[in-house]
Amino acid sequence: MDPYLLGLRLEGRRVVVVGGGAVASRRVPALLDAGADVLLVSPKVAASLEDLAAAGRIRWEPRGYRPGDCSGAWLVCACTDDPEVNAAVAAAAEAQRTWYVRADDAGASAAWTPASGQAAGIRVAVLSVDPKRGDPRHSAAIRDAVVAGLQSGRLSARHGRRHPAGVAIIGGGPGDPGLITVRGRQLLAEADVVLTDRLAPRLLLDELRDDVEIIDAGKIPYGRAMAQEHINAALVRHAQAGRFVARLKGGDPFVFGRGAEEVLACLRAGVPVTVVPGVTSAVGVPASAWVPVTHRGVAQEFHVVSVHVAPGDERSTVNWELLGGSSGTLVLLMAVERIGAVADELLRYGRSPDTPVSVIADGTLPTQRTINSTLEQVESRVAEEGVRPPAIVVVGDVVSVAAEITELMHHVTA
Ligand SMILES: C[S@@+](CC[C@H](N)C(=O)[O-])C[C@H]1O[C@@H](n2cnc3c(N)ncnc32)[C@H](O)[C@@H]1O
Repeated sequence: MDPYLLGLRLEGRRVVVVGGGAVASRRVPALLDAGADVLLVSPKVAASLEDLAAAGRIRWEPRGYRPGDCSGAWLVCACTDDPEVNAAVAAAAEAQRTWYVRADDAGASAAWTPASGQAAGIRVAVLSVDPKRGDPRHSAAIRDAVVAGLQSGRLSARHGRRHPAGVAIIGGGPGDPGLITVRGRQLLAEADVVLTDRLAPRLLLDELRDDVEIIDAGKIPYGRAMAQEHINAALVRHAQAGRFVARLKGGDPFVFGRGAEEVLACLRAGVPVTVVPGVTSAVGVPASAWVPVTHRGVAQEFHVVSVHVAPGDERSTVNWELLGGSSGTLVLLMAVERIGAVADELLRYGRSPDTPVSVIADGTLPTQRTINSTLEQVESRVAEEGVRPPAIVVVGDVVSVAAEITELMHHVTA
């Protein structure tokens, strides 16, 4: 017979897990997410379960299974690698009419664990009932497809009861559409209106339904300061008209992204607002060129600096003397046009002329390119190569680690 699907509400209810290996390590976190009161019985357990026990999240009895362990349980999971123990656990649960899952023998289980996932406020559970397709990987693949569909909006839960309201300020990551967070993608899929930036991952906009209004904030025809006011006003106006507004930004909204200004504007107008962090280009773009911003024994600190105004400009608040004197990695945004002045300043305050520098343009995009140089040469190299924004400049010895990685990569992929 086909199984009857139920959603178990386990909050505060005892679940006994017997066995502490790989299966238990996968099941216990999901049980805890559902609020279960987990008792784990096993002489030895995986490190992640030991950590949960040490943190008081589960009760661990460090011993073998004993008759009576299942008493008081609402659900029992027999996850040892010994079929005899699992059979004894299952028999005890059956005798007391408690649902039980045997990890080693689906045919002898009273209940099966589905492949499950969650997106857009929907919990998805998939069980294969076709004996020819009983492979758990098949269920997991279907689950992944449904979850991905919900996340991208291709399967829309938009008209469900929990359609969000207000404004979501979403960090879209550095450009590759795969680098937005799961939550960012879900909220984007539920939006009625999307206000997007020039550096936001625009490929994601192709996935939106035809009735979603897309406003290109980069094309608002006002100066820099005014444009922001118009964006703030548009966010408030659309939200007050009852539409759910996604503000899609490049990188992280709070890293040189004026995200907090937008949050304040919404709150001042009484509009509910949420922020979804993003992968900032300050870290994600160097990583895409194999540059680690920290590396043991090489750099213990990294500084992220906006060079939208040059050193020496009266509006600059950056302490270049401190940065020149430090040995930490410097990650410079909006620096390409002013790279000569920056290099001069760093040399003046003590950085060595042969300090390695990497300039990474269009990071994470198909057009990404990297120019490697030194502090002394970087200005002329950038001019020769005609590097255009957006680009990240990384200064420091970590750039040499990238060279080592890429050298080894050639051997691995050859
Ligand atoms: C106004 S800032 C926005 C930063 C963004 N909020 C973040 O967290 O990445 C714009 C600058 O970010 C950097 N940037 C953003 N995306 C980039 C990318 N894909 N490749 C290289 N640099 C990028 C460039 O320095 C660009 O001038």
